[in-house]
Amino acid sequence: MTRLARSVLVDADVVRSRIAPLAPGAEHDAIFAARFADHFPTLHRLFGELYGARDDALEALTAVVGLAADSWRERPADLRELDARREAEPPFYLDASMLGGVCYVDRYAGDLEGVRRQIPYFTELGLTYLHLMPLFASPEGNSDGGYAVSSYRDVDPALGSMAELASLARELRAAGISLVVDFIFNHTSDEHVWARRAVAGEVVDGVDHSDFYLIYPDRTMPDAYERTTREIFPDDHPGSFVQLPDGRWIWATFYHFQWDLNYANPAVFRAMAGEMLFLANQGVELLRMDAVAFIWKELGTTCESLPQAHLLLQAFNAVLRMAAPSLLFKSEAIVHPDEVVTYVSQAECQISYNPLQMALTWEALATRDASLLNQALERRHALPEGTAWVNYVRSHDDIGWTFADEDAAELGIDGYAHRRHLNDFFVDRVPGSFARGVPFQDNPRTGDCRIAGTTASLAGVEAGDPLGVDRVLLAHALALSTGGIPLIYLGDEVGQLNDYSYRERPAEAGDSRWVNRPFRPSAAYDARTDPRATAGRVFAGLRRLIEVRKATPELGGGTLLPFRTPHRSVVAFQRPGWIAELPRVLVLANVGDTAVRVEALTLSGFDAAARDLLAGRSVDLRDGVALPPASVRWLRVTPR
Ligand code: GLC
Repeated sequence: MTRLARSVLVDADVVRSRIAPLAPGAEHDAIFAARFADHFPTLHRLFGELYGARDDALEALTAVVGLAADSWRERPADLRELDARREAEPPFYLDASMLGGVCYVDRYAGDLEGVRRQIPYFTELGLTYLHLMPLFASPEGNSDGGYAVSSYRDVDPALGSMAELASLARELRAAGISLVVDFIFNHTSDEHVWARRAVAGEVVDGVDHSDFYLIYPDRTMPDAYERTTREIFPDDHPGSFVQLPDGRWIWATFYHFQWDLNYANPAVFRAMAGEMLFLANQGVELLRMDAVAFIWKELGTTCESLPQAHLLLQAFNAVLRMAAPSLLFKSEAIVHPDEVVTYVSQAECQISYNPLQMALTWEALATRDASLLNQALERRHALPEGTAWVNYVRSHDDIGWTFADEDAAELGIDGYAHRRHLNDFFVDRVPGSFARGVPFQDNPRTGDCRIAGTTASLAGVEAGDPLGVDRVLLAHALALSTGGIPLIYLGDEVGQLNDYSYRERPAEAGDSRWVNRPFRPSAAYDARTDPRATAGRVFAGLRRLIEVRKATPELGGGTLLPFRTPHRSVVAFQRPGWIAELPRVLVLANVGDTAVRVEALTLSGFDAAARDLLAGRSVDLRDGVALPPASVRWLRVTPR
């Protein structure tokens, strides 16, 4: 029997008849019933496609719907209100007032209580979105910065408790800030109870855990898979598998203690849906969907971005739309740009990191040539309606040169050689480089390497380059003007530098990304109002950018129209705003080390009278626009 033919065995009526006893009251709850009617057909279809060929599919689907019904019944009143509000208003994440911040709880604030005490500062900065890096229980020592989760229902006791997280979420919401946490659903730590049960082959409450992960008795299957998969953390282990003490092999894409879950087993979907619904009811408003590209494996493929990865995301969404509709997904797919966009839609991830813009901002600063960045903004920026990019200058991770080789080739650039050059530039192996980055996962076998470093260190502040601060501001000005949600790595707004002390800590010494995860730079924060200090210059510049962005509706939404100048060092584009208002904002940024003048002729498609939003004064475009080295102008212009 074919997969599809079998899938009809997952019978919607059977599920409907089973929810009532599983979740008493659900059928009497009009809101849930309406949402169930809207979204169950989708979930049912997706289950058919993913699991239709399995005998246990119906049982898992029934259980998932039961979980959703229970979760809705337990959903706190304030979150139900939020659900209703979000359903009634246009997508809040497209508003020009959006501003994200990200930090580690321990490094930035000590613990959750410390984060709470920072709320006044977050408000001062203008945050509307706060991503707290992984804060769940995880193994002692190296836990990949918390990305190895041992329990999704327990906060790391050193940081606080789940009850504190829920109350922090409420306080943040009252301050206009949405809480974002990671949903690390591709893998768990090897200490998670599911992992222990899988190794032991235990059946608990009727659920057989032996099939929760991908475990093989010998190298036959691992060798077969590794013919087509790539190495993600080669410094830790070659390939995608690690050996268990009993000699068997288990799939571990990242660190050896991060075991990939087996989503081909519907019981895994069901278990993870339960954890997701639990987090939804703690008041988390956005889940950062970690490592989405890796969640489905199939022999003979790269095991990245397979069609089933999308079906899984859609299925998780369908579950949420029934039980916690205001919770949204952010995609973390740091892959080829063609693939990144496939995750962004109302049905999968409503928002997504924009790794291409991030990487090409650095590429442009290094080469003093904006061609690749302009090309990407022109051709790869558009997203489906109602979705948004999260534009960031850098994250807690490394920077990888994820541009498409085909795009580069059109500009006469050889992708391989260019990546090597950029790596050399950013780790200061090129004479005259302003960057002070550190290599990450330098793989001599494949020539692959990525870059770690804070914004200020990569931009030239650490090297004492006179344009360092200007480059920090330029990079942020781009993230703040291309639409969607701009995201600041907290501490970068006061120019924090690389922290080399990780080399002294055994659990971190082997992972150079810790260089760009400094502890909260208190001295820099204290100096943020001092106009002579680097911290003060960065902070004042960024504050101005934030203030102007919030007051400029044209910078909301995500639509971007190209604009061309004859200068290779000039990034140029227009922002018509969310609902294509007139006037527009024309963004001009010079990534070069020498001044440039954009001539009146180039600007002649606009009325002469324009406004320089950052300087707060009127300008006459017939005079042309001067762009000093590493500078940005946001001009409110009216097309003729
Ligand atoms: C994501 C995280 C990264 C982590 C990996 C494995 O890429 O950003 O820090 O190492 O997932 O969870």
